[in-house]
Amino acid sequence: MIFVTGGAGYIGSHTCVELLQAGHEVTVYDNFSNSSPESLRRVERITGRAVRLVEGDIRHPQALTDALRQSGASAVIHFAGLKAVGESVEQPLRYYDNNVLGTLSLLHAMGACHVNKLVFSSSATVYGDPLHLPITEDHPLSATNPYGRTKLMIEDILRDLYRSDPAWHIGILRYFNPIGAHPSGLIGEDPQGIPNNLMPYVSQVAAGQRERLQIWGQDYPTPDGTGVRDFIHVVDLALGHVRTLAHLEKAAGCTAINLGTGQGYSVLELVRAFEKASGQTVPYSFAARRAGDIAASYASPERAIQLLGWRPQHGLDAMCADSWRWQQGNPLGYRPAQG
Ligand code: NAD
Ligand code: UFG
Repeated sequence: MIFVTGGAGYIGSHTCVELLQAGHEVTVYDNFSNSSPESLRRVERITGRAVRLVEGDIRHPQALTDALRQSGASAVIHFAGLKAVGESVEQPLRYYDNNVLGTLSLLHAMGACHVNKLVFSSSATVYGDPLHLPITEDHPLSATNPYGRTKLMIEDILRDLYRSDPAWHIGILRYFNPIGAHPSGLIGEDPQGIPNNLMPYVSQVAAGQRERLQIWGQDYPTPDGTGVRDFIHVVDLALGHVRTLAHLEKAAGCTAINLGTGQGYSVLELVRAFEKASGQTVPYSFAARRAGDIAASYASPERAIQLLGWRPQHGLDAMCADSWRWQQGNPLGYRPAQG
């Protein structure tokens, strides 16, 4: 049994599918602050398997400990967290409270229940403005906003915890830019309000829900002047978690692992690939750089390949096709259509 905090969210729901399909049982613990139970009903439809669900907040120690104990889980995958960079600048305390205190509460609960295998969702944001590309895991760490600082603080807490007790098995996964959706079209990213991230914005423009994409910056030192990112299909990312669990079974440790493809694409390249996959035009205009953005970021995936035997299988065209299928089939995300 795997205990999945934040399992109803975008990456969590895709990971639940892959866990169930790999033969694991799953208990999801989520407060639905940024998701809906409908995603888990869809996970059950895709897999034909049941998901145990406990609605609760990771910052409620007693409820969390009870749920973890009752689940009988042998490992935890910890997705629960707030993730909007701009919001974290405006509401830093909310981010430190939810992400850092929530993780401390989880680690206490794991200690009380004698569960010492943990996979944590970190982010390429902990590399700050990269000094070299591709980014290897030994790249210096820094943060430029409260969201990034919560990830860095949690990583430091996990490294300290392992130093104090080498019986822990901890995988710190640093995600690059997850996009795409399950090929069934049943689950995908369901942003609330105006999307902060590129892919959901592009797909809403292609669907006619928004007028045009603003491309933030055309003067970066990149081949076409727009930002370059390492987009990774969310199903490949999900499979990386299943592989990490298998790795943690074998070895104690506290290891950071990049999950990216190693290939950077520019914002304009992504827009063109999306137009091809969807058959729609994506109108765009250029605007000033977004504060805090970096020119280019892409991973060295070597450690994941070596340690986990994991390689991403999906290219950019599949990422766009799957995002478009989800967008078309679910124009309002998980919210039911009116009337
Ligand atoms: P998401 O918002 O879709 O999922 C997060 C889930 O956690 C949601 O279901 C939410 O309801 C739940 N949650 C939040 N706070 C909670 C709390 N206090 N108690 C219980 N549940 C809580 O986000 P996602 O894109 O699936 O991201 C999952 C994790 O991966 C996050 O930790 C995020 O920071 C990290 N991450 C995401 C990206 C990305 O681009 N999506 C990149 C790097 C890292
Ligand atoms: N962009 C636009 N217009 C938009 C949205 C984005 O031009 O409407 C551009 C950005 O300027 C950037 C690129 O598209 O050049 C990607 O932007 P995203 O917001 O999709 O992704 P980021 O790389 O900025 O950040 C994401 C997550 C962070 C995480 C980081 C690294 O939002 O939480 O990836 O994993 F830390």
